[in-house]
Amino acid sequence: MTLEQEIGRRRTFGIIAHPDAGKTTLTEKLLLFGGAIQTAGAVKSNKIDIGTRSDWMDIEKQRGISVATSVMGFEYKELKINILDTPGHKDFAEDTYRTLTAVDSVIMVIDCVKGVEEQTEKLMEVCRMRNTPVICFINKLDREGQDAFTLLDEIEEKLGIKVRPMSWPIGMGKSLRGVYNIYENNLNLYEPNKQKRVDDVVEIKGVDDPELDKRLPEGLVKELREEIELVNGVYDEFNAETYLKGEVAPVFFGSAVNNFGVRELLDCFTQIAPPPKSRETEEREISPEEKKFSGFIFKIHANMDPKHRNRIAFVRVCSGKFERGSNYYHVRDDKKIRFSNATAFMAQQKETVEEAFPGDIVGLYDTGNLKIGDTLSEGEKGLYKGIPSFSPEMFREVINMDAMKSKQLDKGLNQLMDEGLAQLFTFELGSRKVVGTVGALQFEVLQHRLLNEYGANAKFEPVNIYKACWISSKERAKLDAFIKDKQRHIAKDKEGKLVFMAESKAWLQMVQDNFPDIEFHFISEF
Ligand code: G4P
Repeated sequence: MTLEQEIGRRRTFGIIAHPDAGKTTLTEKLLLFGGAIQTAGAVKSNKIDIGTRSDWMDIEKQRGISVATSVMGFEYKELKINILDTPGHKDFAEDTYRTLTAVDSVIMVIDCVKGVEEQTEKLMEVCRMRNTPVICFINKLDREGQDAFTLLDEIEEKLGIKVRPMSWPIGMGKSLRGVYNIYENNLNLYEPNKQKRVDDVVEIKGVDDPELDKRLPEGLVKELREEIELVNGVYDEFNAETYLKGEVAPVFFGSAVNNFGVRELLDCFTQIAPPPKSRETEEREISPEEKKFSGFIFKIHANMDPKHRNRIAFVRVCSGKFERGSNYYHVRDDKKIRFSNATAFMAQQKETVEEAFPGDIVGLYDTGNLKIGDTLSEGEKGLYKGIPSFSPEMFREVINMDAMKSKQLDKGLNQLMDEGLAQLFTFELGSRKVVGTVGALQFEVLQHRLLNEYGANAKFEPVNIYKACWISSKERAKLDAFIKDKQRHIAKDKEGKLVFMAESKAWLQMVQDNFPDIEFHFISEF
């Protein structure tokens, strides 16, 4: 196969959802269709359940699971499909955001009972930043959920994206009888089935086909015809272009656990989801078809085995062909590294990979040379763009509890930050170190891992910080004056970028008003 053919058959996407919407279940059904797994129950949830957490072993176990399920590749209808799993727990949201930089499209799972939930909204914001094409799957139709039109309105309103229903539920909850596939003009009758794939799809010729009357009760057929008419009146016809631009989300209805409506989703996905596209580095746009390999690291998993301090760096291949054993240029460090130990991910197995193509994810064993956002290439000098850090939600100061171990603490903190577990800010004055996270759970993980993996005993104490804002100005002198004025509140992130640590919302507002020439950013890339 040529490089172009390999690229053309790759579909790399992420499944995102608010916890419990059915992401794990759907992933599993997709893998079943692809023949990548044979039985249900084979895919483990990567959920971290904070409520029932009993000890650290759980989190360690979870970390293991999340390596195993981070990337699942399978072949389906001549396509090579790569599913990237994303942590559901909101404390690990940043990990999810970064994973979304490595996908070409997204399937978003929404629970028909709960509708659009908080985490879904946040994830959608990230998709919007990159105009990632989104397909929605409205799940759990076997439950008494909200009315289909209400759900669609909610998606448009809360997620700020237009929708186009591609399938339509016939009944819901106890009265669920099937889904009508608007896209393919066929009818899938509902039969609860938790284990196998079901193929009892009835081909019909549009919603007026008398076959419908034979298959469904009269009242439901009438309702279906009315609703489909309404759907076609209200929503613009499906248009691949608006989907690919991230403007319109095609919507499917189904029940993942009953393996219902999933085939419709997958078949449409294979037809419309985009293959890998060009991506930007600091210097230029790189097309996947370029012969020379390039890729970037979006995730690092470290120290799975505390006896060996090795890590797995996940590289998204962006152009050319990755070959095991080759020397690749590490752009940030300006040096070449040889990767003899590369891993590919197929379903739940890891296997050594000889070559990989754009869209693929390769796991590289690393001893501390790589960090999130790094670019590897065959000579390309610019870093891939688009892996920003977001201003954290919580801040605590690092207190070293063992003066003899300050080196270990520094090393541990640096490596854990490279992994993207949290963000470190070092104050210009007094070198105070403050760690910012999305949720409290990360401080516990940090403390535990610093002690167990680096022998460093640290405490994390609350500090009065509301937001970290990256600062810039068109005029250097104005920025310098601001830094001087606010010296006590200026820190640097781990890349050395300047950050203003605001103590409260009101104060930040006041400072913004008083310094109109300073730009305050809530994302590290601007
Ligand atoms: P997540 O990864 O998005 O967090 O969700 P997950 O797939 O783990 O699903 C969350 C719960 O919702 C699971 O139940 C799962 O069985 C259930 N579920 C998924 N799809 C459907 C569906 O179509 N209909 C219904 N009724 N339920 C669905 P659980 O009780 O948490 O776990 P389990 O014991 O059933 O595995």
